[in-house]
Amino acid sequence: MKYYILFGPPGAGKGTQATAMAEKYNLCHISTGELLRAEIHAGTELGKQAAALINDGKLVPDSVVEGMIASRFASVKGVDGFLLDGFPRTLEQAEALDELLDEDAEMVTSVISIMIPDGMIVERIQGRAAKEGRADDASLDTIRHRIETYHSQTEPLIAYYKARGKYKEVDGTGTIGQVRDAIFSLM
Ligand code: AP5
Ligand code: MG
Repeated sequence: MKYYILFGPPGAGKGTQATAMAEKYNLCHISTGELLRAEIHAGTELGKQAAALINDGKLVPDSVVEGMIASRFASVKGVDGFLLDGFPRTLEQAEALDELLDEDAEMVTSVISIMIPDGMIVERIQGRAAKEGRADDASLDTIRHRIETYHSQTEPLIAYYKARGKYKEVDGTGTIGQVRDAIFSLM
């Protein structure tokens, strides 16, 4: 099985690129952000707790997203692998993922990182706000907090995966087609 991690700051284009990647390689796309938004939409207890954190630009607890990933690994059949979008996002999540895969004698295939500068993050998210109506896209303050959270808690994963020889990066500033081609050349 393949276990790809789609990495990058908020608004880099992870969700945009995931569909084509999943289709081409018969992967199950798992976006922890989308799963959490589904919980919020369904009004579950988990969704209520997550909403406050997400709308503040903070991360939900590691255990919550780790549980979501583990249950999908166990239940999804008929694919050649998984495409993890927005997970892992902390060192603890990366370690938990390694342990989970190790139990099945599997490992992360590679981390594909889409990189854009902070100014473009704001531009892209503000552009999406009107189209998708995501609560965490609505205020500049929340967007700034998400960028800070990315730099402080998620960016350290670059060194973690570089040390394991798994890290690959594409320039995310080009057109959607250019970024897709760059990603495919690394898979
Ligand atoms: P999540 O949903 O993962 O949000 P994110 O990481 O902030 O990333 P986005 O979904 O905003 O951006 P994207 O990279 O998918 O960009 P997109 O393709 O949409 O997480 C939301 C929240 O949930 C987190 O803040 C956290 O609170 C919580 N959470 C999730 N996972 C967690 C975890 N593991 N642990 C703890 N908490 C977790 O593109 C953006 C826009 O740009 C779109 O409008 C798109 O059309 C456009 N665009 C894309 N590519 C291009 C291009 N090449 N050129 C021009 N426009 C482009
Ligand atoms: Mg996304």
